[in-house]
Amino acid sequence: MATMARKPILLLLLLCPAFLAAVLCSDIGDYPTANLSTLWLNHPGLRNSVTYFGRSTIRPLLLHGIFGPTFAFGFICTDPCKAFFLSIYIVYTNSASGITRVFDSPPQVVWSANRGRPVKEDAALRLSSDGDLVLRDADGTFVWSTNTSGKGVTALKLLETGNLVLVNRQNEYLWESFDHPTCCMLRGQTLRVGQRLTSDSPNPAFVTLLDDGLRGFIGSNPPLLYFAQPPIGMNKSENISGFCILGKDQFALYMGTKKPYFSIALPSDPQLARFLRLDDDGHLRLFTWDDRWGFTDQFVSLLPNPCQYPKTCGNYGICSDNQCSCPRSPSANFAFFNPVNISEPTLGCTPATPLSCGSMESHQLLYMENVSYFNYVDTSAAALRMTDVESCKQACLTNCSCKAAFFHCIGNSSLGDCYLPSEIFSLLADKLKTKLYCSAAFLKVQIPPAAPDVSLSRATVTDALPIWKRRSLIVLTSGIILAGTSAISVFALLMRRPKRRGSQVEYEEQFDYLPGMPARFTYEEIKAATQNFKQKLGQGGFGTVFKGTLNDGTKIAVKRLDGVGQGKKEFLAEVETIGGIHHINLVRFVGFCVENSHRLLVLEYVPNGSLDKWIFGRTKDNALDWKTRRQIIVDIAKGLSYLHEDCTQRIAHLDIKPQNILLGENFNAKVADFGLSKLIDRDESEVMTRMRGTPGYLAPEWLTSVITEKVDVYSFGVLVMEILCGRKSLDPSQPVEAIHLIALLQEKLRENKLPDLFDKYCSDMQLHVEDNIRLTRLAIWCLQSQANRRPSMSKVVQILEGSSTIESNIDSDLFGSYLCSTEHAFDFPLLPLTSKENTR
Ligand SMILES: *[C@@H]1O[C@H](CO)[C@@H](O)[C@H](O)[C@H]1NC(C)=O
Ligand SMILES: *[C@@H]1O[C@H](CO)[C@@H](O)[C@H](O)[C@H]1NC(C)=O
Ligand SMILES: *[C@@H]1O[C@H](CO)[C@@H](O)[C@H](O)[C@H]1NC(C)=O
Ligand SMILES: *[C@@H]1O[C@H](CO)[C@@H](O)[C@H](O)[C@H]1NC(C)=O
Ligand SMILES: *[C@@H]1O[C@H](CO)[C@@H](O)[C@H](O)[C@H]1NC(C)=O
Ligand SMILES: *[C@@H]1O[C@H](CO)[C@@H](O)[C@H](O)[C@H]1NC(C)=O
Ligand SMILES: *[C@@H]1O[C@H](CO)[C@@H](O)[C@H](O)[C@H]1NC(C)=O
Ligand SMILES: *[C@@H]1O[C@H](CO)[C@@H](O)[C@H](O)[C@H]1NC(C)=O
Repeated sequence: MATMARKPILLLLLLCPAFLAAVLCSDIGDYPTANLSTLWLNHPGLRNSVTYFGRSTIRPLLLHGIFGPTFAFGFICTDPCKAFFLSIYIVYTNSASGITRVFDSPPQVVWSANRGRPVKEDAALRLSSDGDLVLRDADGTFVWSTNTSGKGVTALKLLETGNLVLVNRQNEYLWESFDHPTCCMLRGQTLRVGQRLTSDSPNPAFVTLLDDGLRGFIGSNPPLLYFAQPPIGMNKSENISGFCILGKDQFALYMGTKKPYFSIALPSDPQLARFLRLDDDGHLRLFTWDDRWGFTDQFVSLLPNPCQYPKTCGNYGICSDNQCSCPRSPSANFAFFNPVNISEPTLGCTPATPLSCGSMESHQLLYMENVSYFNYVDTSAAALRMTDVESCKQACLTNCSCKAAFFHCIGNSSLGDCYLPSEIFSLLADKLKTKLYCSAAFLKVQIPPAAPDVSLSRATVTDALPIWKRRSLIVLTSGIILAGTSAISVFALLMRRPKRRGSQVEYEEQFDYLPGMPARFTYEEIKAATQNFKQKLGQGGFGTVFKGTLNDGTKIAVKRLDGVGQGKKEFLAEVETIGGIHHINLVRFVGFCVENSHRLLVLEYVPNGSLDKWIFGRTKDNALDWKTRRQIIVDIAKGLSYLHEDCTQRIAHLDIKPQNILLGENFNAKVADFGLSKLIDRDESEVMTRMRGTPGYLAPEWLTSVITEKVDVYSFGVLVMEILCGRKSLDPSQPVEAIHLIALLQEKLRENKLPDLFDKYCSDMQLHVEDNIRLTRLAIWCLQSQANRRPSMSKVVQILEGSSTIESNIDSDLFGSYLCSTEHAFDFPLLPLTSKENTR
């Protein structure tokens, strides 16, 4: 076939020689369609062939559009131009001269047919008479095809969206490139279950959609999971349907059909040519054509902390606040790891003495204090489960391909999961004040035979290994942590430390006295007050709550932090913080008990229990009236405002939900469990490595950016809607389209039917429709997807008290567009037609 195609006559028919391009080819742009029985040869004479300054050469076969950034389908090669790929790429076109070379903006490949199987000069692409699109190399070898023979294909089209499609007479798509993603995703394209994006390298990273969520793997053998959303093992109420770029500049992972499970908001500037690419380091990057005729890139973070990307600091590099360093040796005289290039710390480190399987007796494990591996732990990748740290280390020392032992504790036992990877990507400096998980890292090193002072090195290595002693740590966090592998390994976490001489008692007594602390009770006193924990009030967060009465008759609630014990020092530090906070709308902290392994908090008893019991599943007769509901909203706002702005330390609650709002005798509301949140310094926002909170109340920035107290404002918005509507934010008993309250709110807002939402079982709520609409508008302000567009809680209080008004330019789009379809993908025309560009 290749021979036949070389006949000059055919060439003349098929090709438009470059020198005649302007004259003979009237269509220098916009030839997006091809009919059956078309043959293209990969040849420099193809019209519109362009070589970019010393970089790529393109030979477009189809081109959509004649002006601005636009899609082309054809061959492409990079300098030196030997290997060609049949690809879709974005080029810049100009109506007068066709494809224009724009300095510094080479064509951007968004899809390739023959990745990994390049073809040569004179390779042939044929759209056969029976509708198959086949690529053969110059020597006739079969390379790729769409396998569409005999299916009724009538034409090949490159659509405005960048989707290459084979259509039948009815213009139905029989094959489309959007269904075969490679590196990238375009607007309107949906990644479906089973499909993956793959980076372009020998050991590619890939992001794939499984029916339980989006997963990111880093190329190694076997691939290592570094990202999962929703987290593995989390129960899903609905199937995932796709991951897509929405028209309104958002990415979304869809569960079911319409509700985004999560979405990542993009900058709202209306950029035209935009695509998402998975790069080798595991990052998804968003590329946008901007005014300066260049592609700018921008991260789309799948993980809140760049250090969680396995390649951020190269092999063996320790990542800390975006800084890379090499593992430190216990001895100053001898380095076990050296930077690959001292002026490029992100390239990682190499062992000073390579590990040799021939001399395994000189292998040692170097303990890395405060270092962990991928924050995401895929338990299925563990080499050993429910093992102890010594067995984990031994397993690594006796297996030559093992390069490190990573141990993650489970529960409050000394057993955990053991990982023995054969390749070490970036390590993670573990600097969190409150450790949310337990992990220990040991890197295998080789003691060099001719080291200057071998005995010293050996001794130091051994000394650096901790003698394990268990010290437990309560993670004072209520609610669930989403990004965990198992509830146990995330919640009940152990902190390990090198053994200190001296007894436990000595250590504890050191911190007995702290000034300004609330009352300290003995365990006996608590036992007596609660009649040996007789009356259970509830269970939640990290403990069970019991009712009790003090000697003086004061009723109390005692929260017994179950199962896990926390270092006394940390516990007292938390208690000190909580103890200093007093506000009428916050549950008062009376005292505490710390004795042996017992950790108890003594709290004010709040008689009417938690808000959820009062707003969900009520009937006509016992529903709360409008005035009470409004007062509850005001109380919560005041409590939060105090936590956020009036305490000496800025405190974000992080788990605002009806279960954590308690109602007093007159239904005055009090925020509970606030001390269990992480404290945030006033000046700095905290970057969290784990999500916390409860589904249905989580602000979008948990997925992308810095966490501030604005996540509480979001949850407050959800809460307001729950109070007004008398239903849960996520209510699986509702019809599918109504399960997600905020999605429903969005829909009713669009349809201008907000009153449909308000609690139907309460006639009093129906009498206050206008007031409720005002409150809903306030809630919508709080639910803005961008944190900085939400009001502060003090502003919310002012509005509720009538001393301030709601901002007028609130974004009424809480998620961006709903549908993952091509029709809805374009809110902006693809071709820019600004006067500046027209005059070029
Ligand atoms: C494809 O075929 C149609 C009708 O048969 C014709 O009008 C059109 O010009 C053809 N297009 C090309 C690119 O040859
Ligand atoms: C076409 O079929 C071949 C052989 O069955 C397969 O390897 C190839 O992946 C298919 N191509 C496409 C684009 O589906
Ligand atoms: C998931 O659902 C199953 C069955 O409904 C239940 O037994 C299990 O406890 C749930 N797991 C979690 C982590 O919620
Ligand atoms: C999810 O998918 C499975 C298999 O495709 C199906 O059996 C199940 O009914 C689906 N669940 C929902 C909630 O759609
Ligand atoms: C190290 O990096 C610097 C800066 O990128 C570069 O100039 C130098 O050539 C590199 N050195 C080596 C040995 O690769
Ligand atoms: C590890 O962390 C603890 C607690 O933050 C700190 O005291 C200790 O110095 C750290 N160790 C190293 C080697 O950085
Ligand atoms: C040694 O470790 C590698 C991974 O590091 C693992 O694949 C292999 O099965 C282990 N071999 C033995 C004998 O345990
Ligand atoms: C933790 O240990 C206590 C006793 O030491 C035990 O009763 C409890 O069940 C353990 N919890 C877990 C989660 O293993």
